[in-house]
Amino acid sequence: MSKPYSKITIASIAIAAVVGGGIYLTSTSRVNKTVSNNNSAVANNNPNQATLVSIWDKETEPNYLGTTEMTVYRSPSCGCCGVWVEHAKKHGFQIKDVKTEEMEALKQKYNIPTALASCHTTIIDAYVMEGHIPADDIKRFLTEKPQMAGLALPGMPIGTPGMEARDLKQPFQVLAFNDKGEVEVFKEYQSY
Ligand code: CU
Ligand code: CU
Repeated sequence: MSKPYSKITIASIAIAAVVGGGIYLTSTSRVNKTVSNNNSAVANNNPNQATLVSIWDKETEPNYLGTTEMTVYRSPSCGCCGVWVEHAKKHGFQIKDVKTEEMEALKQKYNIPTALASCHTTIIDAYVMEGHIPADDIKRFLTEKPQMAGLALPGMPIGTPGMEARDLKQPFQVLAFNDKGEVEVFKEYQSY
């Protein structure tokens, strides 16, 4: 990515993180209720697709041979984090699920830039996977193993795995970052 583009991206990330944080603090339970209502609606209207409650359930990296054990750190009160854990399980990951009130200290420990922060933090293969990243992107990262500290999906865009809400889908980017504070786009989702 060119320098100007990266700068624009980082500015928009900061805004997304603030907006996402606001949604998280004020209406997490409402969002989750919407998701479960939506899921039951899908099951009732489309009996043939009763188990496909999210577009993210569909596996597209079936030949993945990398690490499958991950540790997910999350706040005990975070509902969307639990939905993301279920997403990761559906894609074959084995989860050590750690509930902690020390999420801010944890993000500092793993050098996650504030502008890239989300709710839960996942550690796999000594890489950091921050937020509601699609499982397939984690698999591709762990297959390619670029010289980066990990991936981040800043804030909590509506429509990402664990943040499904009817057919609302915000465009989002999965970013790769390193310990020097360099950030690049790993995958962009405009429509999905
Ligand atoms: Cu979340
Ligand atoms: Cu979370």
